[in-house]
Amino acid sequence: MSLKDKRILVGITGGIAAYKIATFIRLLKKQGADVRCMMTPASSDFITPLTVATLSENPVGIDFYNSKTGEWTNHVEWALWADVMIFAPVTANSLAKMAHGFTDNFLLATYLSAKCPVFIAPAMDLDMYAHPTTKNNLAIVEGFGHTIIPAESGFLASGLSGEGRMAEPETLLEVLENHFAKDDRFVGQTILITAGPTYEAIDPVRFIGNHSSGKMGFALAEAAAKKGANVILIFGPTHCKTNHKNIQLLAVQSAEEMLQAVQNNWKNATLGIFAAAVADYRPEMVANQKIKKSAEDLMIQLIKNPDILTWAASTKTSHQRVVGFALETQNGLEYAKDKLIRKQLDAIVLNEMGESGVGFGVDTNAVSLIDKNNNIRSFELQSKVDLAFALLDALFEK
Ligand code: C5P
Repeated sequence: MSLKDKRILVGITGGIAAYKIATFIRLLKKQGADVRCMMTPASSDFITPLTVATLSENPVGIDFYNSKTGEWTNHVEWALWADVMIFAPVTANSLAKMAHGFTDNFLLATYLSAKCPVFIAPAMDLDMYAHPTTKNNLAIVEGFGHTIIPAESGFLASGLSGEGRMAEPETLLEVLENHFAKDDRFVGQTILITAGPTYEAIDPVRFIGNHSSGKMGFALAEAAAKKGANVILIFGPTHCKTNHKNIQLLAVQSAEEMLQAVQNNWKNATLGIFAAAVADYRPEMVANQKIKKSAEDLMIQLIKNPDILTWAASTKTSHQRVVGFALETQNGLEYAKDKLIRKQLDAIVLNEMGESGVGFGVDTNAVSLIDKNNNIRSFELQSKVDLAFALLDALFEK
């Protein structure tokens, strides 16, 4: 998990969007992050410190000094603890104070002590958000090297509608995931990935297909995108979805359409990962109309589909690499090695069907990665999401 054990310091200021931070903290905790929260005194009108402390499983920082116990909370220690600080929501007032170095509460003093990356998610009414002073203050804190997570458009608590809503908790999470996943080796790379099954038409309503879910290919695309690569994802019919900004989505149906899409895009790619379960054969003739149930027997003549992976491998230049997948039910290693050599691949990922939790449809997978120098690496059963990161790391190891 990309946020596992990461120390996230969340700063909550006094706007109505503070109620959404409960969801954000839950999302962080689900990812295995270590979460501490700080609140401005005003924010406790919108969400209680008890809620925040309970969800984050840590005490909340609000005051410098606890008059009951006589203890003070060390804002410098809090700042040094954090791997990142994320302030959400940030009101116009707190933003102005951050931009100009005011430290009249614990949250602001901790902010000013930050040595880690800082993320700022503003939230305010549309006129406040559009005001030149807000724009200036956002530009100032951006100039400090902080990342602004822009407010979104929509319904506002004032009853007005426009730009000013805090980015949704899922968006905040994605920004942090991208931050931690970012990997210099991937920045500037264009990775072409095929995913899912192909459907080969028999007539206008029927097709030949397979049980591939597309999950492994989509997980690879998301992982590569989070690491900073540009991804071209060419996928057959699947329920998988992604909206990562680094992923260009090209939906196809048949093997021939997939080949066409690969051919149109291959020259831009530095790496191709061919995870699609492409149908090996397609009906020679596609009936124009639905085939009627009249004869006792029906023969469908099949012809071979083009091998997309072989096409890419045979046209690759010296700066391109090609990785195939092999799904086998027996003698996996032998067949995979044969495919690696025959198709002139740089590496092949072997999926051995039959073991539980491996292969089509499920959310987990266990594979072996074999490279052209016959190095074999085994990846134990894990989520396809984690496996995607591990496989990409292995492919980019120096
Ligand atoms: O030869 P086989 O179909 O087992 O090889 C599997 C690999 O080849 C996978 O990477 C798959 O995406 C790719 N493939 C392809 N085009 C085909 C058949 C398979 O790209 N027509």
